[in-house]
Amino acid sequence: MCGITGYIGKNKNAIKVIIDGLEALEYRGYDSAGIAYITDNKLKVIKEKGKIVNLKEKVDLNIKSTLGIGHTRWATHGEPSKENSHPHTVNKFTVVHNGIIENYLELKDTLLKNGYTFNSTTDTEVACAYIDYLYKEEKDILKTLNKATKIFRGSYALGIICIDDLDNLYAVRKTSPLIIAKGDGENYIASDVPAILKYTNKYMLLDDNEIAKISVSDIKVYNDKLKEVTKETYEFEGSYESSMKCGYDHFMLKEIHEEPIVFSNTVNSKMDNLPDFSKYNQIHIVACGSAYHTGLVGKYLIEKYANIPVYVEVASEYRYKKNFYDKNTLVIFVSQSGETADTLAALKKANDDNIDTLSIVNVVGSSIARESKYVIYTKAGCEIAVATTKAYLAQLSVFALITSWISKDKNILKDIDKISNLIEETIDKNYLDIAKQIYKNNNIFFIGRGIDYALCMEGSLKLKEISYINSVAYQAGELKHGTISLIEKDTPVIAIATNDELLEKTISNIKEVKARGAKVIFITNSDVTGDFYDYIIKIPKVCETLQPILTVIPLQLIAYEVAKLNNCDIDKPRNLAKSVTVE
Ligand code: F6R
Repeated sequence: MCGITGYIGKNKNAIKVIIDGLEALEYRGYDSAGIAYITDNKLKVIKEKGKIVNLKEKVDLNIKSTLGIGHTRWATHGEPSKENSHPHTVNKFTVVHNGIIENYLELKDTLLKNGYTFNSTTDTEVACAYIDYLYKEEKDILKTLNKATKIFRGSYALGIICIDDLDNLYAVRKTSPLIIAKGDGENYIASDVPAILKYTNKYMLLDDNEIAKISVSDIKVYNDKLKEVTKETYEFEGSYESSMKCGYDHFMLKEIHEEPIVFSNTVNSKMDNLPDFSKYNQIHIVACGSAYHTGLVGKYLIEKYANIPVYVEVASEYRYKKNFYDKNTLVIFVSQSGETADTLAALKKANDDNIDTLSIVNVVGSSIARESKYVIYTKAGCEIAVATTKAYLAQLSVFALITSWISKDKNILKDIDKISNLIEETIDKNYLDIAKQIYKNNNIFFIGRGIDYALCMEGSLKLKEISYINSVAYQAGELKHGTISLIEKDTPVIAIATNDELLEKTISNIKEVKARGAKVIFITNSDVTGDFYDYIIKIPKVCETLQPILTVIPLQLIAYEVAKLNNCDIDKPRNLAKSVTVE
């Protein structure tokens, strides 16, 4: 989704720092980019549709500038175009914006009546004009921004330059994330940590309705009563290099190769302030996309080994439906980014109802982490590829731990010490040959039973999102109730069977599709052989709580190889964004 960077400082060229920051945020997905900077006390704005390289062609990096803001836009209000891209300037103010100003039409109406005109169809230009409008009356930037936060509805992170005060860069946020990073004789703003890592790893988090006034040497943050507040400074543990590709063709591949260490970092991390799991008689798990799929695995494991009913819901549904819970319910929210709008809204709903909330989050200090009563951090590090792999695996690891805590049965994690090596071994297998068998097909099926069905859903999503090939995941026994009519000669069916009790049943279902001409790729941890499959991927067998961690690897790598054979933009698939901060 959209990205913000901003710089004020005497040591570096603002234009270069901002472009570097935007490039580091490219993984979030965007369709246009722009920059505004001050040179010789004058404002210059350059914007282009498409990739940052288009913007770079128009920017002169030799120009000296000490103050600027930049943006990558992912269209919400109005098509992707130069006019709609940020920064937007109205009279004295220039802004970049992430999020959505929900009451912008109402505000626009007032502004039109007061003589303002607009060049774009965005809510951002309206926000910028409205700030200018308020400033005419307030004549003070802080008071103006404070008043704006009381009037703007929706979610926003704004980076702001006012031509009347070129000694300061301003920022304000509500719901959409924004950080302020500290340098020496220079300071930064950004929507996400990777944007600043090339220059500093020290940052503070802006909270809802706070306003930051940032100069070369000072950062002042004010609350909604315009009282100055003290902010905690965080240090990002990873390095800039760690967020780069390290010789791999794609971030996705690099991130899959990081899975052994991610697993070990996650399961060995110190986890404080955990809930008393023994007090709950039901659990809800709420998340989106892949994180939802880890919830399905969590449900299977917790119900089977800890004997507690678990209900898993997609956040965009959960937040609007009637939920049945009481003080003995725990609601678990799963999110890599910690900023997914629907998951955050569902969390706020549970908090309003006074229900215990636990989040499983990757990004430290993110909104979901901060709003939850209890937090478990996955230790996946910075995930850049839009399609999640290592963070998904880290979430599976946490559900294995939670299952063992609730069931108090340490034996169900008996294979934990072997897993990192087995992950490595599984990654090193050849998936290209299998990918070559399926990459030209338009329809691919994933079938499995029980916990393997949850893995099928993830395998199917991974393939769809990065290779643009349609695929569906089905419970193996359900296919014959309709969908089997789609199976014809050479239709690829990826069948997963890792549970001994369900093995024979799954094989019967595989035979049903094989009899109709399907090309079967069989993923299993058993020694079974036969003529019911065309290709077999044998994965190591471990205890059931940890098995999904190995099962998902072939699925991630098949998706990767298929997308590569189809020349797809693997790390930045079309229409997708890394952090989905709109509803
Ligand atoms: C798929 C993928 C998405 C995310 C989903 C939730 O590869 O990455 O489906 O899992 O958008 O995002 P987070 O985990 O950040 O809440």
